[in-house]
Amino acid sequence: MVDPGDGGGEVAPNKAASHPARMSTRAPRVDTVIAQAGGVALGICPGRGANHGDTTGSVIPPIYPSTTYARDPETYLPRPLMGAARVPNRVVETAIDAPASNRREVADDDRGRFTTVASAPAHPGKNVYARPDNPTYVQAEAVIAALDGGVGCALFSSGMAAACGLATALLKHGDRCVFPRHSYFACREYFRQHCARIGCEFRLYDCRKGKLQTHSNEAADPRTDEELWRTEGSAVEAAVGADGKTKLVWIETPANPTWDVTDVRRVCDIAHAFGASVCVDNTVLTPLCCAPIRLGADFVMHSATKYLNGHSDVVAGAVVAAVDDERWGAVKSARAMNGGILGSFEAWLLLRGMRTLHVRVRRQCESAAYLAKRLAAHKNVSVCLYQGLASHPGHDVATAQSIDGASFGGMMSIRVKGGADAAKSVCGLCKIWVPATSLGGVESLIEHRATLEGGCLGGDSGVPDDLLRLSVGLEDPEDLWIDLKEALEGKKRKDSDYFPDLAGAKSDGDAAAGAAAAEFDRKRKAESAAIAGKRGHYRDRVRVAVHGVGAPVGNVCRRGCAGRDVPVSDKSVHAKVKGLSYCARSDGAFPDWLRARFPGIRLDDVEAAVAARPELRWGERLPPATANGGGE
Ligand SMILES: Cc1ncc(COP(=O)(O)O)c(C=O)c1O
Repeated sequence: MVDPGDGGGEVAPNKAASHPARMSTRAPRVDTVIAQAGGVALGICPGRGANHGDTTGSVIPPIYPSTTYARDPETYLPRPLMGAARVPNRVVETAIDAPASNRREVADDDRGRFTTVASAPAHPGKNVYARPDNPTYVQAEAVIAALDGGVGCALFSSGMAAACGLATALLKHGDRCVFPRHSYFACREYFRQHCARIGCEFRLYDCRKGKLQTHSNEAADPRTDEELWRTEGSAVEAAVGADGKTKLVWIETPANPTWDVTDVRRVCDIAHAFGASVCVDNTVLTPLCCAPIRLGADFVMHSATKYLNGHSDVVAGAVVAAVDDERWGAVKSARAMNGGILGSFEAWLLLRGMRTLHVRVRRQCESAAYLAKRLAAHKNVSVCLYQGLASHPGHDVATAQSIDGASFGGMMSIRVKGGADAAKSVCGLCKIWVPATSLGGVESLIEHRATLEGGCLGGDSGVPDDLLRLSVGLEDPEDLWIDLKEALEGKKRKDSDYFPDLAGAKSDGDAAAGAAAAEFDRKRKAESAAIAGKRGHYRDRVRVAVHGVGAPVGNVCRRGCAGRDVPVSDKSVHAKVKGLSYCARSDGAFPDWLRARFPGIRLDDVEAAVAARPELRWGERLPPATANGGGE
């Protein structure tokens, strides 16, 4: 993470004499800017009387929902603001360390440490109408620009709207756009379609070099690292071409969802040599882990929906510019004209979310590193794709471009031995990891990416179908590990195991609470079963009747856990009894075992169901890794 040490400390001699209390011009550091996002550290806290004329002393910034602004009654011109969105120079200089040539410092204010970012609001210093100007999102923009070390930031209504703004601004008929083959699929697809519409050539480059082939378990590439990087360089070079037509090169590193690493500096050098701009999608690493502008990028794009907001409750996007020039003007104009702006409430929520960005991202990096190591060593994981692992082919480059050489983000993927079905059932067995798309929130998410991408694209997206994408949240890392480990080993816990109140009440003999716990389990299982039914996991289900059995026979397979119903799929009858999984596949021991164990049990329906499928026979006790209730 960013060095918290004192890199400032310069004293302005004249001011020191007359204002001893203000003698230090040491700029606030990244953590301070973030913690007071939109507040004191950026000089835009209303309580400090900086920007917005607030006289209440409110510590947090207000929300400005107004769509329009009164004009000067005499001149009918927009009224000047009491200040403008300002970015502290020294944060940019000392913490983010952007190259000086990238900044256009306009005029220091009275405290000598803030620079007015003339380009931040579309009409600097004035508000006219809320599509181009809104004081709430200007505050959020100032924070993001400061963190990324850019001259300005434009918020958009989503990450995709931000990408769309860049495409509109930078590409025209006859140009060429170069995009990574391995990247967030919707962005890639959007650029492909946009280019086709406007007559712009669209080329893909492959940042996955020979060595990365080991990710798909293919033979290791004999080439050296240096040769492999040369391969990457030449792939980008070939895609960019020397004819000057390429106007935009896109980078996503590490890239969704295989987390291949791209050498940002190297690609920037190639692109700039041929007159192209470079935009880095920094959604996954955030400015806390990687500063693409420092590595030479012209633009940084964020899906602020993810880590920047961090609470899975806002959809937003951002573009940050390294240089204030006509390209940046075109991006802001595209935003104003397309109208893809953020609402003021969302901008305010984003500001609130960003106040904990540093704490969240650090914890997520730590937990991810811990989990990656454990997952990489698990017997049912063929590979763990995390750029922080020394075994990752892009690790050296990732280390070099990490802001502190040790922050690799909170995203990774695992490839599960046993293929798609095994991977999906791991998703299904997790109790803490939420099976959902998106990333960067406080809650950990697990996703079978091929299903999502294939569903959206209406075909195979090329993502390996044994791959699970993991977004590491803020839960206890040990809980996260145990949950995944047990899921990988086919173990299934009751929902009520996770609710100590209910479980405790149960063991205390509180019948009502115990019943509530059981009911909770039952409902969750019924829901899962309904979903599984819709997905066609089970063709039908049969009832196991139990007479005089104290303990429930139930917990029959994960997705079919409706009390004592036994799910029957095309290929098996799958049951879990008292923690042990059984599958109707081989000999006939299972019913006998059940009868011996639970004397009153009647298995007529089950046996009839099995009898109706000659290919099935009762009894094989499954090894833990496969006895996970997929039912197939
Ligand atoms: C890396 C990356 N970039 C861009 C986007 C698009 O962002 P949004 O969903 O906010 O439009 C996403 C969304 O998942 C993403 O993961």
